[in-house]
Amino acid sequence: MSEPRIDAERFLGRLDAFARIGATPKGGVNRQALSPEDRRARRLLAELGQARGFGPGQDAIANLFIRREGKDNSRPRVLIGSHLDSQLTGGRFDGALGTLAAFEVLEALEDAGAETPFPVEAVAWTNEEGSHYQPGCMGSMAFASGSIPEQWTSLRGHDGSLFADELQATLEALPEAATRPLGFPIAAYLELHIEQGPSLESENIPIGIVEGIQGTRWLEVEITGQSAHAGTTALGLRRDAMAAAVRGLDRLYAEIMPRDARARFTVGRLAVERGAVNAIPEKICFTIDLRHPESAVLDRLETFIRSTLAEAAAGCGCASTLRRTFDMPPTVFSSLLLERLNEAADSLGLASKSMLSGAFHDALFVNRVAPTAMIFVPCRDGLSHNEAEYVEPDQAVAGAQMLLASTLTVLDN
Ligand code: GLV
Ligand code: MN
Ligand code: MN
Ligand code: MN
Repeated sequence: MSEPRIDAERFLGRLDAFARIGATPKGGVNRQALSPEDRRARRLLAELGQARGFGPGQDAIANLFIRREGKDNSRPRVLIGSHLDSQLTGGRFDGALGTLAAFEVLEALEDAGAETPFPVEAVAWTNEEGSHYQPGCMGSMAFASGSIPEQWTSLRGHDGSLFADELQATLEALPEAATRPLGFPIAAYLELHIEQGPSLESENIPIGIVEGIQGTRWLEVEITGQSAHAGTTALGLRRDAMAAAVRGLDRLYAEIMPRDARARFTVGRLAVERGAVNAIPEKICFTIDLRHPESAVLDRLETFIRSTLAEAAAGCGCASTLRRTFDMPPTVFSSLLLERLNEAADSLGLASKSMLSGAFHDALFVNRVAPTAMIFVPCRDGLSHNEAEYVEPDQAVAGAQMLLASTLTVLDN
């Protein structure tokens, strides 16, 4: 057996090939979960695996596993991977980098004729982004809990498509994949990802060793007033849902992030129900993405958001309701694996730093059932969830080398 090595040209070529699936005119990708583009990407990955003798498998939520057998195939496998779905106007590296690097690790092991003590599998988790169907991380969440929540079956995407139908069609699009149980014992999970923020680039450090992920909550807000004539309704008679939303949000923007540098507050979607130029809006619906490394602070901020919006609504003769649609508590990764990752970076002579992830990832859920860790590489200007997202080729390759070295140290221990 020779020393397993990343084939940089092959790996970068794969990144290009997958970036063509759902390519957008501005250089990004639109490969929404369970869409025809997502299915094409899954098929390509499955076919590439089959060409190397790695069998594909799918579970009931369409997580795709590409398996390279080990010496003792009855032992729990090491999983490495990420996701292939993207934001509507996403970048070509978010998810694809880690998934294709995981596949490259399998190929590098195969090229070297390496016999691993147990199987190693590359995984592409279903709907990490949560931009087609909410919540995000559906695949890893279902894997970790061993079940698909009942309410997901009736979910509709922003385009009106039914989640259950698209899931079924996606499963059927890969009939050759073996059926896997939802959730099975694994020895460890490693995920390579772009940082999606500026710190590695600004400090000129090629590798981030991710200690944990901050908590995220998604809230759906409805502010309801009364539709009335724009020209005839005097101020005192208005129950203007827009005025209430603007006042409430103005206060939240002023109070949350400016007072806590670690807090993140984003209103990414806002709709005026039955909007008309000349009618007072009856209903405003919007989403809130709230993040913080501490659960207690998330609780406090959510309470503050509820009371601020209720107060703003009442002040305008309106009512507000707030529904939590997603709750990911902060996560701390396995200290044992982090040690292994540090050893791997040292062995490659790559400078690294420990850091927290601002974005959520499938690793958050997998960490509930097995030792898990993540590796970050820098992205240009820290930009992600944007078609201009870019990773320098040698930094992408360094990430894949780090994933390979980390996988080998995990297999050895
Ligand atoms: C997912 O990509 C997120 O962190 O929003
Ligand atoms: Mn991602
Ligand atoms: Mn993303
Ligand atoms: Mn993410």
